Amino acid sequence: MTREGIPVHALPVAEDRAVRPGKIPPGEVDLWYCAESHQPALEEPYVLNDLCVHAQQQARRFVCPEDRRRFIAGRLLLQNVLARYCECEPSRLEYSTGSFGKPALSSPPSAVAAGLQFNLSRSSEVVAVAVGHMPLGLDIEKQRPVAHEQAFLARQFSSQEQEYVRHSLRPRAALFEIWCRKEAYLKALGLGIFHPLRKCPVSPGCTLPVFESPRGQPHLDWQLRSLNLPLPGYAAALCTPAPTPCPHLIPLSCDDLLNGIR
Ligand SMILES: CC(C)(COP(=O)(O)OP(=O)(O)OC[C@H]1O[C@@H](n2cnc3c(N)ncnc32)[C@H](O)[C@@H]1OP(=O)(O)O)[C@@H](O)C(=O)NCCC(=O)NCCS
Repeated sequence: MTREGIPVHALPVAEDRAVRPGKIPPGEVDLWYCAESHQPALEEPYVLNDLCVHAQQQARRFVCPEDRRRFIAGRLLLQNVLARYCECEPSRLEYSTGSFGKPALSSPPSAVAAGLQFNLSRSSEVVAVAVGHMPLGLDIEKQRPVAHEQAFLARQFSSQEQEYVRHSLRPRAALFEIWCRKEAYLKALGLGIFHPLRKCPVSPGCTLPVFESPRGQPHLDWQLRSLNLPLPGYAAALCTPAPTPCPHLIPLSCDDLLNGIR
């Protein structure tokens, strides 16, 4: 760890660069995020009506307003961003779901043919989506107290990861660094929690375990790295099937989500 507590393995990401037009260059990843997902305006009826019927039903199931707003913000972010790359109305986007719940675009056909892929993550006030022409796994987590931390570590982290956390200057930052790497890797593979997390060591520098892909895809040379985003108090990690340059980082406001990306 550095003196400031930023994990040494975190990839520095440039602050903001302008929204770039339509296409993502081959091998690159765009990372869009909004850190204003608690805004009450997200619950206005006209906003909910912009979501597909299934997402509206899902949103209504949340009891806690903050969870509901975060969910709505995530879906607005996703549909606004994908519609931009697909050059279509958000209502024309359709999704399929992998065996363990990973969503993928199934329409418009042109975007599917071009191999456009994404992965969404939400935590506290932040919603984010990574987009590129490759399988992606993104995880963002607010660094927060973990209930029964030692038991959690013993249950979910390998011995090497527990050592990494124990010996770091800021154990909580290190815990969430590993947590994000684990989830980003499992999300890239589309496995989610269905794989025992302890058997998925992801410490910086370690060799990633090889899992059989749920869709029987060929083995890919997964690259997993921590991201040092300009979001104090949050950890993040991105997993891609090949080395990629720094993700192109695009911050949005809640107004952008509500009124569309200009
Ligand atoms: C998929 C999973 C990884 C998401 O975890 P999460 O941190 O709660 O959620 P995130 O905000 O990062 O991601 C949610 C999004 O990921 C996508 N997603 C869902 N299932 C997915 C899967 N199997 N693979 C990849 N992405 C998936 C969806 O877009 C989802 O958004 P939606 O709810 O609007 O549909 C979750 O099922 C899981 O396995 N959680 C592990 C919890 C845990 O014990 N963590 C301890 C870490 S050490």
